[in-house]
Amino acid sequence: TEGALWGARFAGGPSPELARLSKSTHFDWQLAEYDIAGSKAHAQALAAAGYLDDAELAGMHAALDELLAKVQGGQFLPTESDEDVHGALERGLIEIAGSELGGKLRAGRSRNDQIATFIRMLLRDHSVTISRQLIDLIDALAAQAAAHPAAIMPGRTHLQHAQPVLLSHHLLAHCWPLVRDLDRLADWNRRADFSPYGSGALAGNTLGLDAGLVASVLGFGGVVENSIDGTASRDLVAEFSYVLAQVGIDLSRLSEEIILWNTREFDFVTLDDAYSTGSSIMPQKKNPDIAELARGKSGRLIGNHTGLLATLKGLPLAYNRDLQEDKEPVFDSLQNLEVLLPAFTGMVATMRFHTERMAELAPQGFSLATDVAEWLVKQHVPFRDAHEITGAMVKFCEDRGLELHEIDDASLAAIDARLTPEVRSVLSIEGSVNSRDGLGGTAPVRVAEQLAALTARVREF
Ligand code: ARG
Repeated sequence: TEGALWGARFAGGPSPELARLSKSTHFDWQLAEYDIAGSKAHAQALAAAGYLDDAELAGMHAALDELLAKVQGGQFLPTESDEDVHGALERGLIEIAGSELGGKLRAGRSRNDQIATFIRMLLRDHSVTISRQLIDLIDALAAQAAAHPAAIMPGRTHLQHAQPVLLSHHLLAHCWPLVRDLDRLADWNRRADFSPYGSGALAGNTLGLDAGLVASVLGFGGVVENSIDGTASRDLVAEFSYVLAQVGIDLSRLSEEIILWNTREFDFVTLDDAYSTGSSIMPQKKNPDIAELARGKSGRLIGNHTGLLATLKGLPLAYNRDLQEDKEPVFDSLQNLEVLLPAFTGMVATMRFHTERMAELAPQGFSLATDVAEWLVKQHVPFRDAHEITGAMVKFCEDRGLELHEIDDASLAAIDARLTPEVRSVLSIEGSVNSRDGLGGTAPVRVAEQLAALTARVREF
């Protein structure tokens, strides 16, 4: 094990099978730049504690900068014999700085505190990317809402016509969970703001290294309070992967609606050609593949999250090699979501709504029945009776194939004397929507306020 990070107490090198199993460079190479940043900070702490003189520190930093440039330029790569990113980079440092100087850097640190630090750094950087992408999607949904201030659609519960709502109200309903996802990422960042570097293998280090210095050089607000927790916990990775899964679920619910809206039966939207796909056999087809991939990938994100939770579940303190399994699932979720979100946003931004079709369907299915019942309440009919009377109207219509507004005056009176012709004043979808003007309601005035509130909220991120 020439050049490896361990080996002196072993009779020989690892078996080829173990070496293959143990290798993680194919995924932890993503952490190389964080590893080098950590090494530079660690060198400063070593110098501050008197283990490197000024010239050695300068030499170490110069060598690490050169290594970083080689990593970025692709001239330095892990080889077959490198176990992980940390070992590969120490090899690279020694190739540049020599083993006299390069061999001093590993003092007082462990791959355990290194990896725990770098995964936080990587996730914090990606939280910025994901947040930006989420804001773009929220903006696209909000722009569609703003472009259709008066359009009315059938609101549904149980997928059945329930009450008419503004299309903009419905679109904004998809924005708020995404705003909460932004909030979750911001909140997660507060908890992730503590550096484990200095925790060593589990118990800290004996060299008097200034962990606060390392933390601040690496951009953390503080240092973890407990070195065992610092090296052994991965709840922050799990929490991050939950947020990614939740974003996936939020996209998936909207996707399901877009897929339905895009059917001939609904005919509520047309997707832009640039954001739709064709069929290799059916020349007429135009498919909502982005929405379907979002729905499908949400399953994958949930799997990544639950897999990680299962990995963590039975682990005793402190570090166990099982923890290496935290990275691939969360990297996979990030990679998929960061490709998905821009495509999804493009689909939403270019989607054309068939507002006439939606408005035509909105009053169907007796969706104004609640309005009738509440009109009766305004005439001081007890709601129990109002519900009964309106139910009788619905039954009357169903038996005759009519809509509520088509019942003539005589039939209204026959159903119940309190059903005067004035009831027709609430049998319009505009009247229905306008009258739901309580806070959070679908009335145009409230939705305009909601859009302004959303825009202000998103600007906070
Ligand atoms: N590659 C490991 C991880 O991803 C870190 C190395 C710790 N290895 C060890 N034998 N303690 O968690």
